[in-house]
Amino acid sequence: MQLRMGLVGCGPRQRQHMTALRQVPELKVAACVDIDAQRLQDFGQAYGLGPGQRFRTVGDMLAAEHIDVATVVTSPRVRLEIVQVLAQGGVRAILVEKPMALELEDAYQMLRVCTDAGIQLMVNHQYRFLPFVGAIREALASDSLGKIEYVRTTCPMNLHAHAVHMIDLANYLVGDEPLEWVLGNVGGTGAFASKHPGPDSAIATFAYRNGIRLHLECGPQSPRSDDRAKLHLYIEVVGDRGRAWGGIDSGYRIVTGGAAPREMRDLWSTGQTVAQVALFRHIVQTVVDQRADENLCRASLGVRTIEAVIGTMQSALEHRIVSLPPQVPPGYLEQVRRTLTGVSGA
Ligand SMILES: NC(=O)c1ccc[n+]([C@@H]2O[C@H](COP(=O)([O-])OP(=O)(O)OC[C@H]3O[C@@H](n4cnc5c(N)ncnc54)[C@H](O)[C@@H]3O)[C@@H](O)[C@H]2O)c1
Repeated sequence: MQLRMGLVGCGPRQRQHMTALRQVPELKVAACVDIDAQRLQDFGQAYGLGPGQRFRTVGDMLAAEHIDVATVVTSPRVRLEIVQVLAQGGVRAILVEKPMALELEDAYQMLRVCTDAGIQLMVNHQYRFLPFVGAIREALASDSLGKIEYVRTTCPMNLHAHAVHMIDLANYLVGDEPLEWVLGNVGGTGAFASKHPGPDSAIATFAYRNGIRLHLECGPQSPRSDDRAKLHLYIEVVGDRGRAWGGIDSGYRIVTGGAAPREMRDLWSTGQTVAQVALFRHIVQTVVDQRADENLCRASLGVRTIEAVIGTMQSALEHRIVSLPPQVPPGYLEQVRRTLTGVSGA
């Protein structure tokens, strides 16, 4: 069975998705949408989508094409609006890129409209499907790492850019146990003007409900411990019998008591596409089988990353441990920006 796809946003990330989609024949790209006419034309020409398959708005696409699955690969600022139109337009599933949203209320609203419409909503946290993550999961499942004591992760980009990915990955490695609280601090305002608005840097300790701690450091000061890496996105799982360490684009090492260390290098060239292909195949399976509750990227899990980053900011502003999910007023990110930049009336 083939599902018809509509691609919203024709930027560089959607082009990466096309590389993966070419390996998933069950997903047929039927249409693309971009508000930018030049990007739309270039994308259509590059991937063989004729003028009749290119649209300037999501509404126009839905009026002309039957779409089963839509990907929303735009700036996070406009995602809610797009998801609302898609949800009313009869699609079966929507995959939004990370970060799911900038504001918590937008993330909750997306979940609500899709749940009400009976649509499967997912967040593109493809790191769950990276081969090295599978190796760490196997080590955990076979108990060779023992009981997890803590997870630590670092990345040079900010909370909404890459930390959401790393928090999601940590969540996956601890079995999607819910986060209970966070104590964090944030600093720097340069990134508020970027594609991923928010403080430049953050440090945070999170507690999962089962007591495991997650230690996060993100921002330009974060460690660069491998010369071969470009992204420097690291995750470490420390158990009472072993340790697994992985850099998303550098390699992993699993060390367990007695056994020789397992090591693999240079994962990036193949790993990214492998992970994205696996995610798309997983979507096909859960949409066709109508098993949204089994989708590893379901938005009810993805939303926890936004709760975690907003909770970190609230902890920093209020100088206290914040229970998760955080309770914040609408527009909280803007409040954080005003506070950090010292704008009066914040
Ligand atoms: N999962 C990952 O590993 C990964 C990697 C890279 C980027 N991303 C995410 O993907 C998203 C997009 O990244 P990008 O670099 O391609 O961004 P981009 O801003 O360069 O491209 C987004 C495109 O969306 C279009 N757009 C904006 N509003 C629109 C609307 N209302 N309707 C239709 N099109 C609209 C823009 O014109 C633009 O062409 C970001 O959220 C980014 O964080 C994820």
